[in-house]
Amino acid sequence: MDSRIRAPFLKDGVIGQRHIAHRIPLSRPFVGLEEKAAVLRVLDSGMLAQGAEVAALEAEFAGLLGVEHAIATSSGTAALHLALLAHGVGPGDEVITSSFTFIASANSILYTGARPVFVDIDPATYNIDERAVEAAITPRTRAIMPVHLYGQMSDMDVIMSVAEKHGLAVIEDAAQAVGATCQEGQAGTFGTGCFSLYATKNVMSGEGGLVTTNDDRVADRVRLLRQHGMRSRYVYEGLGFNYRLTDVSASIARVQLRHLDEVIGQRRENAAFLSGTIRSVATPQFAEGRGHVWHQYTVRLNKDHDRDEAIHRLAEAGVDTGVFYPRGVHQIEHVRAAAGDHHLPETEQAAREVLSLPIHPALSKEDLATVAAAVNQL
Ligand SMILES: Cc1ncc(COP(=O)(O)O)c(C=O)c1O
Repeated sequence: MDSRIRAPFLKDGVIGQRHIAHRIPLSRPFVGLEEKAAVLRVLDSGMLAQGAEVAALEAEFAGLLGVEHAIATSSGTAALHLALLAHGVGPGDEVITSSFTFIASANSILYTGARPVFVDIDPATYNIDERAVEAAITPRTRAIMPVHLYGQMSDMDVIMSVAEKHGLAVIEDAAQAVGATCQEGQAGTFGTGCFSLYATKNVMSGEGGLVTTNDDRVADRVRLLRQHGMRSRYVYEGLGFNYRLTDVSASIARVQLRHLDEVIGQRRENAAFLSGTIRSVATPQFAEGRGHVWHQYTVRLNKDHDRDEAIHRLAEAGVDTGVFYPRGVHQIEHVRAAAGDHHLPETEQAAREVLSLPIHPALSKEDLATVAAAVNQL
């Protein structure tokens, strides 16, 4: 692995009163000399806002996915918001999604005035239980938004056939899943894809996002809405937003995209090592035929483990962890107020038991061995 991602971590850290000699961070932005050179080139170019770099990123991203259009946005949240609007989702509509996700999935639905309708997860994959989606459809349902959680795709075969049968739009929340595959294709190529370029993602630019689609009309709507509804200079076609990406950010993401295979390969190697070494807790499962990209490596503690205690003990061993997510979004007050009560036992149980471990490409073999050994002592 190239030295750009093998730079040493912070050598010293402090937890409470204790001094830790070597911390293994949960994630680490993957930035090297190429990104720095790209940023300097853009700064020197005199064009910093949405310009040639954004256009190049869009062409390269569309090429990678093999789709007609990729439209860059200021964040993954903005991508979701615009994708929903471009499909005509609005007040009075319902959008079926997972509650075991980052709040942005639900918030983007709420921004449109629609109501999120949550379906429980498959506890093996943490993705929406595809087979339960159809039962949640009502005359108000307008779209289905599967979330490809942790870097593993939902079963798009099932989702697309339910959507086609009922005439619904599909908006893939692929924020964590750039490069993820299933037998039928890549994340973001089935419905309208929404990606995030947030700092911890496998391809990042600090902040940013992309919408992908083969539908010219959806692409046109997203492009318009991203820029105040402006068709040509100061000619507006209704209310829009400023959801543009900067050329500075796009230049970083373009370099990152060129290293995507390498990053996914290293994450897969790291995941295989952890799954082969950890015995004390349930390691992640993945469905047959899925190309997991391991944005997160998430174990499941059993009922005898106290998660806070486990987090503390791992931190004492120098291992940072994360909980994605400590609550289903249906349990968050403003979402509950708009979406109503939901009974989602698998989501709530997963939210109590999951724990994500470091998996990023900058980990050394020793770091991975430290992580596995610390987990095996829980
Ligand atoms: C599942 C999911 N959806 C949506 C988002 C929103 O992306 P962003 O943070 O770029 O707005 C994120 C990212 O953080 C995410 O993980």
